[in-house]
Amino acid sequence: MNVPQHVAIILDGNGRWAQSIGMPRNFGHIRGAKNLETICKDAWDLGIKYLTVYLFSTENWKRSQEEVSALMQLFRRYTKTSLRMARENNMRVRVIGDPSAFSPALQANLRELEESSKNNTGLQFQIALNYGSRDEITRAVRALSADCRAGRLDSEKITEETIASYLDTAEIPDPDLLIRTSGEMRLSNYLLWQMAYTEFYFTDVPWPEFHKEELVKAIEMYNRRNRRYGGLEKEEG
Ligand code: IPE
Ligand code: IPE
Ligand code: MG
Repeated sequence: MNVPQHVAIILDGNGRWAQSIGMPRNFGHIRGAKNLETICKDAWDLGIKYLTVYLFSTENWKRSQEEVSALMQLFRRYTKTSLRMARENNMRVRVIGDPSAFSPALQANLRELEESSKNNTGLQFQIALNYGSRDEITRAVRALSADCRAGRLDSEKITEETIASYLDTAEIPDPDLLIRTSGEMRLSNYLLWQMAYTEFYFTDVPWPEFHKEELVKAIEMYNRRNRRYGGLEKEEG
């Protein structure tokens, strides 16, 4: 089986899943975070090298204050778990998005997580937090214009690679496969630039029930697709 090098996931449906079993939405988020730990290990076992997951979008601040603060609390706990997982599994964790809106404590945890795992060579795990593609591109354009003004960059020489290097995902290859759980078929402002040629896989399974067999199904589907770039077959490898 040809395993995609980089898998991106929109882990959706935590709230609906919890409500369907008569529990509060936050219970779904807790179970969702737990499931993510397992999926990281499964992904690595299957041969996936990069995994990028959407945990909190720039639009998610619009949710009730109660839900947002429960999520912030969960992220603080999750960074601790991730720190341990990164150490135990040689996993490198990077944050994409704009963490400046988070509490200083959470920001410090995230920096520690990135810093302490930066030399790890196992799963390259990206967590998208306060992430939105349009926000990412806006921040990139600002930084790029500042460099042009300061004479560090010649605007005539800007290429696609230059733009990619200003994004939060600089140095990370584009995703080969996107998975979105729980039935929705939209991108919700996720990796718009990076997914120009990504294969999409949608499933009705809600995130807390998305286990290894489901990941294998997505990879099998990816294998059945005839990957083409501009009309040409993609070369293997
Ligand atoms: C995904 O689950 C997790 C986050 C966006 C934080 P949702 O919270 O979106 O769950 P549904 O889509 O409402 O069921
Ligand atoms: C996208 O899911 C964001 C995350 C998974 C973090 P949402 O559930 O927030 O997206 P919409 O609002 O349904 O598009
Ligand atoms: Mg949702």
